[in-house]
Amino acid sequence: MDFYIINGSPRKKYNTAELLEKASQGIKDELKDTNEVNIHQIHLYDLDYKGCKSCFHCKRIGGKYYAKCPIKDDLLDLIPKIQNSDGIILGSPIYFGEITGEMRSFLERLLFSLFVYGGESNAPKKMPVAMIYTMNVTEEVFNGLYGNKFDLMEDIIEGIFTKPYSLKVYDTYQFSDYSKYENYAFDPELKAKRKEEHFSIDLKDAYDLGVKIAQDSLKDI
Ligand SMILES: Cc1cc2nc3c(=O)[nH]c(=O)nc-3n(C[C@H](O)[C@H](O)[C@H](O)COP(=O)(O)O)c2cc1C
Repeated sequence: MDFYIINGSPRKKYNTAELLEKASQGIKDELKDTNEVNIHQIHLYDLDYKGCKSCFHCKRIGGKYYAKCPIKDDLLDLIPKIQNSDGIILGSPIYFGEITGEMRSFLERLLFSLFVYGGESNAPKKMPVAMIYTMNVTEEVFNGLYGNKFDLMEDIIEGIFTKPYSLKVYDTYQFSDYSKYENYAFDPELKAKRKEEHFSIDLKDAYDLGVKIAQDSLKDI
């Protein structure tokens, strides 16, 4: 079985990456008695690619690339593997109220070739999907500022694969040392307290998300 863990943060050892690591562990533990479980960790910022180029080869009736993305870059071989995988977990920090540009471009490429205007998805497989979002703001600020803004992309993912599980991790610890960076918005002591008291709960939630993805991968969904 193949699972893809996609890190949409440029940082490989911070919040998003740590949560994704825990989610991977949840998959591994849940499927420990299953043969051949491959967890593929993808760091989007290591790859060279762009978003959808609107060539419409994937929509061309009878065309060679129907339901496929023909763009020759680092996603060319990866996209079909992910589209045929047994589970996908995507993690992204929030940059100016959105998932990162790299994650957004990646999702355009992963999804558009399977998206059919007004029709059924061309997905070769309906695998479980999860989204992990990490951000500076508190849950309260998130609700006021961003509301349901991630629902649209999640609805698109649902239409193509399955309804994604969604984990939002608020009030993350952004800097390695708050005293070294200019910031008038966040109290370093409160940030440290939150990290100390809450990040372990976030990690547990990420682990449980991995467990659910593993369990769903064994079901006929
Ligand atoms: C360019 C940039 C923009 C950001 N914009 C937001 C934002 O709009 N809202 C927010 O809550 N956090 C914002 N953040 C903070 C990150 O989302 C947050 O620290 C996140 O947990 C970082 O993930 P990482 O530790 O995995 O890199 C921003 C960070 C950067 C670098």
